[in-house]
Amino acid sequence: MKIIACYNIKGGVGKTAAAVNLAWLAARDGLVTLVWDLDPQAAATFYFRTEPKIKGGSRGLLDGGRDLQELIHGTEYPLLDILPADFSYRHLDIRLEETRKPTRRLRKLLKPLAETYDLVILDCAPSISLVSEAVFEAADIVLVPVIPTTLSLRTLEQLRNFRIRRGLDELRLLPFFSMVDRRKALHRHILATVPADCPELLTTQIPYASEVEQMGLRCAPVVQFAAGSRPGQAFAALWAEVRPYLD
Ligand SMILES: Nc1ncnc2c1ncn2[C@@H]1O[C@H](COP(=O)(O)OP(=O)(O)OP(=O)(O)O)[C@@H](O)[C@H]1O
Ligand SMILES: [Mg+2]
Repeated sequence: MKIIACYNIKGGVGKTAAAVNLAWLAARDGLVTLVWDLDPQAAATFYFRTEPKIKGGSRGLLDGGRDLQELIHGTEYPLLDILPADFSYRHLDIRLEETRKPTRRLRKLLKPLAETYDLVILDCAPSISLVSEAVFEAADIVLVPVIPTTLSLRTLEQLRNFRIRRGLDELRLLPFFSMVDRRKALHRHILATVPADCPELLTTQIPYASEVEQMGLRCAPVVQFAAGSRPGQAFAALWAEVRPYLD
């Protein structure tokens, strides 16, 4: 079982869009896949037409009182399950702090799922916190969507420095450009200059496109309802680029 976290300190950069589309593509390719929606906003949960839980999750989960398996739901797609967000996840930091070895906690919780799943995708909330540290300890790969703006690049730099400070050398950070709008001069400029000093940057770019916004109306991944669209093809290319890292 491999674990991919879709993560960025910044909000609204395309983490959930990537999580949902890559999970669908992974399941279509025959990997038994779970999306764990760690964000109390519950966007990934919504895209898979599942109800978020209102209360009660995080405490029981972290103190071992509840089994993750019990909370998992199927989706309408074969091989694809969801662990829905829980509104109590807004307190996940505090709950984690109450546990022993908080940063190892998520990894420990996820371990038994290896019997069932080939791939777990964690859809993370924006922030850098104890939860993020626990995510970094659990994940094999952190996929980082980056909008081509100066501020977004700064947060990527912060993330790289954080990994170094915490000695997370094993962790693979894979940034990619997200919500790319080539009509914008800044986007074009950054796309032309950055790749040289960012060796781990993936080559796939996800375009800014209305089909991605329609995911909210359709409650489905864009790769499912518009596979041939520009973003549909881009997410397929992103999956093709990420997949070899799972071997
Ligand atoms: N490539 C894209 N083109 C156009 N709109 C997009 C694209 N990717 C995401 N969006 C839209 O931008 C908004 C934020 O996207 P998304 O929820 O994927 O980001 P996020 O990083 O998960 O946000 P949050 O930090 O709030 O969890 C959503 O309304 C989504 O529909
Ligand atoms: Mg999100």
